[in-house]
Amino acid sequence: MNILITGGAGFIGSNFAIYMINTYPEDRFVILDKLTYAGNLENLKGVEDAGNYKFVKGDITDPVLLQKVFKEEAINTVVNFAAESHVDRSITGPAEFIDTNIVGTFTLLEAARKSWQERSSMEGVRFLHVSTDEVYGSLGKTGLFTETTPFSPNSPYAASKASSDHLVRAYHHTYGIPVVTTNCSNNYGPYQFPEKLIPLMVLNAFKGKPLPVYGDGKNVRDWLYVEDHCRAIDLALRNGRLGETYNVGGNNEWKNIDIVNLLCTQVDEACASDTELSGKYPFKGSRKELITFVKDRPGHDMRYAIDSTKISEELGWSPVESFETGLKKTIDWYINNEPWWERILSGEYARYYESQYGTGL
Ligand code: NAD
Ligand code: TYD
Repeated sequence: MNILITGGAGFIGSNFAIYMINTYPEDRFVILDKLTYAGNLENLKGVEDAGNYKFVKGDITDPVLLQKVFKEEAINTVVNFAAESHVDRSITGPAEFIDTNIVGTFTLLEAARKSWQERSSMEGVRFLHVSTDEVYGSLGKTGLFTETTPFSPNSPYAASKASSDHLVRAYHHTYGIPVVTTNCSNNYGPYQFPEKLIPLMVLNAFKGKPLPVYGDGKNVRDWLYVEDHCRAIDLALRNGRLGETYNVGGNNEWKNIDIVNLLCTQVDEACASDTELSGKYPFKGSRKELITFVKDRPGHDMRYAIDSTKISEELGWSPVESFETGLKKTIDWYINNEPWWERILSGEYARYYESQYGTGL
């Protein structure tokens, strides 16, 4: 396969690219990424010497570039991660979410359609669209999102992803493009940009800074280790039924406040067991004292939880990482990769943060 991975320098995209390049040395990979604030070529350092991979800096809203890449690289498979992905940013600045998530997905579908319709058949081509459970809206105390739950997106981010999911569906129905969509719950793991809950709390806990919990902290998310998500996408890409969507989740519901408490315990323990670390990140007492309840996110969805029965029964997928071990691995990764996150915290992100929140990081 000649596989185009868009957004492959971001959090999930880079984890997926590394996994795929190492697992399938016989396939060829082109990673296309605009390198926005969230894209980082350092994420791909581990595979830079791999002979089966090429990086292209580019925007999925650029039809001329996409046409060139499809043609020159004979792309027959697309995995679309490229997106603006942070709900809070979509509230303060929705325009980029419309451009990339909606217009970008449309432009990518058009490039695939034009390129693949020149073939004698759609045999051997595939477009996998990576999406989120947030398209379904918010759950009450009970119930799970299934593939037939009606879309009810609440944030500009969720609405833009829902729109992209509809376009992907329509390109299958109307033009016969062989598509599969995955809708996944919240991911965590290495290379996650430190504006998202888990890395933000871990880094603030290292540095003894306040841990800002929105509202009362009782909102619930269903957390999945990023490698489990990557395996699900790979299975859906290879064996998923065309035109279908697959929900992917960790069967792992946590209230935000409980996660933050657990992270504090794990960071305290990591520092207590390592004198070099406790010297670098000194803190007296429990880091739980740093928890600070702050103004809630506007329109904050209460609860997400996924029913993964379909992907489990049809494709044999289930998560393998437990939350405790996954979090520990994640904290260790941030401990061992300080230059990665220090560069982020001292660069463009620091200036953005100050402009949004009026204080430094
Ligand atoms: P991310 O923000 O870490 O990475 C997004 C990547 O897309 C970045 O590398 C960025 O440079 C690139 N990009 C942005 N605009 C682009 C454009 N116009 N053209 C080309 N590249 C562009 O996001 P993530 O958390 O890795 O999410 C990846 C995908 O997975 C998204 O589609 C997101 O909706 C979906 N998803 C994320 C989660 C999660 O918990 N993070 C859960 C379910 C689904
Ligand atoms: P986030 O990681 O932004 O993912 P999403 O909004 O896509 O679910 O947030 C996860 C949860 O954590 C969400 O309920 C909002 C909450 N949250 C905080 O309480 N404090 C924070 O600083 C952040 C970033 C998120």
